[in-house]
Amino acid sequence: MSAAGGVPARPLPSADDPRIPTHIGIIMDGNGRWAQSRGLPRAAGHRKGVEALRRTVRHAGELGVGYLTIFSFSSENWSRPAQEIASLMSLLRRFIQQDLKELAQANVRVIPIGRRDDLADDIRALLVEAEETTRANTGLTLLVAFNYGGRDEIARACRKLAERVRAGELDPAAIDETLLACELDTAGIPDPDLIIRTSGENRLSNFTMWQAAYSEFVFVPQHWPDFDEASLEAAIREFCNRDRRFGGLAAGMTGG
Ligand code: FPP
Repeated sequence: MSAAGGVPARPLPSADDPRIPTHIGIIMDGNGRWAQSRGLPRAAGHRKGVEALRRTVRHAGELGVGYLTIFSFSSENWSRPAQEIASLMSLLRRFIQQDLKELAQANVRVIPIGRRDDLADDIRALLVEAEETTRANTGLTLLVAFNYGGRDEIARACRKLAERVRAGELDPAAIDETLLACELDTAGIPDPDLIIRTSGENRLSNFTMWQAAYSEFVFVPQHWPDFDEASLEAAIREFCNRDRRFGGLAAGMTGG
């Protein structure tokens, strides 16, 4: 694969190289603009977005990425027109009905994150089915953030801790970051190393608010339906060049 201008791209690290991000989060933005710039309905952009999602899941697995979190419906997306919400719900239905078998065969484990209580019964059942069917898989873990908001996730975690305090099972003084993280939808999942957002917007938009504390961000101008294998590799290459210090000093720096 070559970079723009015919210059060969530097090779990516191999799958077992520690520089390959263990966990990538993706804010799949720009479906609507992709469609509108072609005179198509927004739903056509979301449908094309599912194709980009399929190739990204496949390629992330091939590259040895351990976890991929996709922001597919945010808790704020309920404010969109009813027709668009219905089309996103149908896409999720179709994605699980059509792709679950293939994902399961590819050893992908699916974990839905987000609120379930205000979703339609059939959607809830499909999310449970996807999780149950793939529970034993050991390849890529695909976290589907659906009806998900980072602040809502933190608030739900706090409520669970408060209930344990009220039940007399937990001393408030024992509440720390580790305990709170154990109540998040992502309990047991490593934090995202890399968060990619498409379509030129430089925001987190309530995606993995807690978990993104030390994530590296790569913002790409392409709209999500145009995101492909080369885009994923380019983002990973940029990630490999970042100096992650987690609040400490760069390697070799001693201070003073
Ligand atoms: C943002 O584009 C994208 C979404 C709100 C939904 C993302 C959904 C998919 C990629 C397909 C659905 C996949 C599943 C599994 C349900 P936007 O509509 O905000 O685009 P815009 O900013 O250009 O308007």
